[in-house]
Amino acid sequence: MGVKIVETSLRDGHQSLFATRMTTEEVVSMAKILDNAGYYAMEVWGGATFDSCMRFLNEDPWERLREVRKVCKKTKLQMLFRGQNILGYRHYSDDVVDMFCKKSIENGIDIIRVFDALNDLRNLRQAVESTKKYGGECQIALSYTTSPVHTIEYYTNLAKEVEKLGADSICIKDMAGVLLPNDARELITAIKKNTKLPIELHSHSTAGVCELSYMAAIEAGCDIIDTCLSPLSGGTAQPSTQAFNTVLKGTKYDPALNVDALHECEPVMEKVKAKYLANGLLNPKALSVNPNILKYQVPGGMLSNLMNQLKAQNAMDRYDEVLKEIPRVRKDMGYPPLVTPLSQMVGTQSVLNVLLGERYKMVVNEIKDYLHGKYGKFPAPVNPEVSKKIIGDDKIITQRPADLLKPEFESLKEKYKDIARSDEDVLSLALFESVASEFLEKKYQTQDVKEEEKPSDEVISFNIVI
Ligand code: CO
Repeated sequence: MGVKIVETSLRDGHQSLFATRMTTEEVVSMAKILDNAGYYAMEVWGGATFDSCMRFLNEDPWERLREVRKVCKKTKLQMLFRGQNILGYRHYSDDVVDMFCKKSIENGIDIIRVFDALNDLRNLRQAVESTKKYGGECQIALSYTTSPVHTIEYYTNLAKEVEKLGADSICIKDMAGVLLPNDARELITAIKKNTKLPIELHSHSTAGVCELSYMAAIEAGCDIIDTCLSPLSGGTAQPSTQAFNTVLKGTKYDPALNVDALHECEPVMEKVKAKYLANGLLNPKALSVNPNILKYQVPGGMLSNLMNQLKAQNAMDRYDEVLKEIPRVRKDMGYPPLVTPLSQMVGTQSVLNVLLGERYKMVVNEIKDYLHGKYGKFPAPVNPEVSKKIIGDDKIITQRPADLLKPEFESLKEKYKDIARSDEDVLSLALFESVASEFLEKKYQTQDVKEEEKPSDEVISFNIVI
């Protein structure tokens, strides 16, 4: 059995390179061809695709999923979401997580990959349970980062817990692209030794080391790798599908992809890429190697957000200071991995600390919530002085955050009854209230107008009478 490949260009590829702006039509045109490639799965949904569809493209994310499912008869479809956060920025109650899994599977998803920014598995329990209940395959992704607490032993223990929780596979999710080849080898070897679950590696080419890390991981027994078809590979996206298929060909790791299907899709994807390069959404910078990632251990997306925030404040000259402040804030917070939503929280707090001239003079609300334990367990103890300054002697939640939430799906349904026409709509509204209500209002208005334009039976009979 060779290495399995999960094609990620239709989700993470365009999310990493040009802010998830590919349209459903573009995605479907490629998915249709790639369905013949022999991938283990194609990642096509979740992450930022959901928000981006409604916010920028005026498209229904659920319709995208159904359209892709229609043209993918052979390949499993995979999605990504953030456990109890689903795709939003707060914790949702268990019944909403359950409904989201149910509807995702009903609309065409086969594999649900979930992760938690803090690797707090209590935030993933419901997603695993519901995915299995509705017949899906559930993968738990461990947010990879480096820190004094994020050791090989830490990840190995976590992997054992993942197996106990009932997940079907484990993914090492290196969102920043900082996993080095030797660490990859050690990590995969240790996890393989301690669990029976298949292991997948997900990283980004941003720092220029990813291909080597993938190779080291494969030699250590990694079962599945995430890659992007070449026009959308490299840079801040995943390494190239064609390159790995070629390099591994004829070895015991041969992924045995159908090269004809890959070739057929290349010009289609090339054309799409050219469009986003021309309209400026794809910044050529995203395609080159960025060694700062390894130096500061900060994901590429976070660096560009930071630059935008500083530019808006006319404070680009403070960029280096902010970059130095990030690891300090992260240490104060107990070394959370810098992945959504923690990357935004730590980044914004670092900017405030530098620009206001006093650390934690002003504090973002999400950081306050974090310190109250509302996001889950801290990877390491937080700095007690900083915590005292921000939340005083407030009580810190130690139970599973979602245990404090009452079932809310029915009340959300009631709340949105004037806009929502399906449970899928209710979920869109629950996750992105303002964006989804604007989108759905427009969608149903135009749909209703179209229906009115059609001659109804009454009009026809009226005409006949005349
Ligand atoms: Co990624």
